[in-house]
Amino acid sequence: MKLEINDLSLTFHGQSAPVLSHVNFADSFGSLAIIGSSGGGKSTLLRLLGGLISPTSGEIRIDGDRIPTDAASLQQYRKKTGFVFQNGGLFRHMTALENITIPLIQVHGYSQEAAQMRALELLKQLGLEQDGNKHPAQLSGGQRQRVAIARALAARPSFLLLDEPTSALDPEYTSEILTVLNQLKQEGVQMIIVTHEMGFAWHACDKVAFLQNGTLLEWGESASLFQSPQTPQLKQFLSKLLEWNR
Ligand SMILES: Nc1ncnc2c1ncn2[C@@H]1O[C@H](COP(=O)(O)OP(=O)(O)OP(=O)(O)O)[C@@H](O)[C@H]1O
Ligand SMILES: [Mg+2]
Repeated sequence: MKLEINDLSLTFHGQSAPVLSHVNFADSFGSLAIIGSSGGGKSTLLRLLGGLISPTSGEIRIDGDRIPTDAASLQQYRKKTGFVFQNGGLFRHMTALENITIPLIQVHGYSQEAAQMRALELLKQLGLEQDGNKHPAQLSGGQRQRVAIARALAARPSFLLLDEPTSALDPEYTSEILTVLNQLKQEGVQMIIVTHEMGFAWHACDKVAFLQNGTLLEWGESASLFQSPQTPQLKQFLSKLLEWNR
């Protein structure tokens, strides 16, 4: 996919300081990782990319088309994206299967039968065929995230947006989810992922963007970004991460 971000800024209502300030980006990729320190604006940028909020100024273009700002077009735009929230965001009172079928029926206009077929297909693909009738509380953290990924994939979105999909998981489940995402990537699913998993950003993502204090300081091919960071901020960010990994 081709992503262009042109002079994008966002100040939340009632606040004086911008959360994102004059962000620019232009590149093509199958998978993009967004990295950076906490509070830098990564989730906010991902929500803008998903059309969940609108910028104060500037624009985002995906494959040449501007993300709309009027409510009706935004609603249409959102249907073409699959969003995975940090905590999975599953409906607790619904089974895994219903978490996938209900949005397909209510938002995307699927029939009950078509939704059921699609959900079963995805549960199988993600190794959850035994778990369709369980509620989120009866699933492990890794299983819950796989259901959230299945739900995001269900209506065959143009791309996935994932906000730290492994941040609440143990190392074992983290690697399980990263493996699933890497498989999806190899099957041609395009994605933009906010992540603290630098190994995944480096080895599974084509491009990486570094967001610090509301500004996109650097982006490029993953390997070159990690091997030869250009800005002192990225150098410092990476050296801090390595401190405990020597
Ligand atoms: N709805 C909101 N209203 C006001 N301020 C907000 C809102 N959402 C986020 N912010 C502020 O915007 C800044 C960026 O937040 P954001 O969640 O995008 O950061 P982040 O890079 O995702 O951080 P983390 O790595 O901790 O998830 C923070 O200072 C946050 O307090
Ligand atoms: Mg965040």
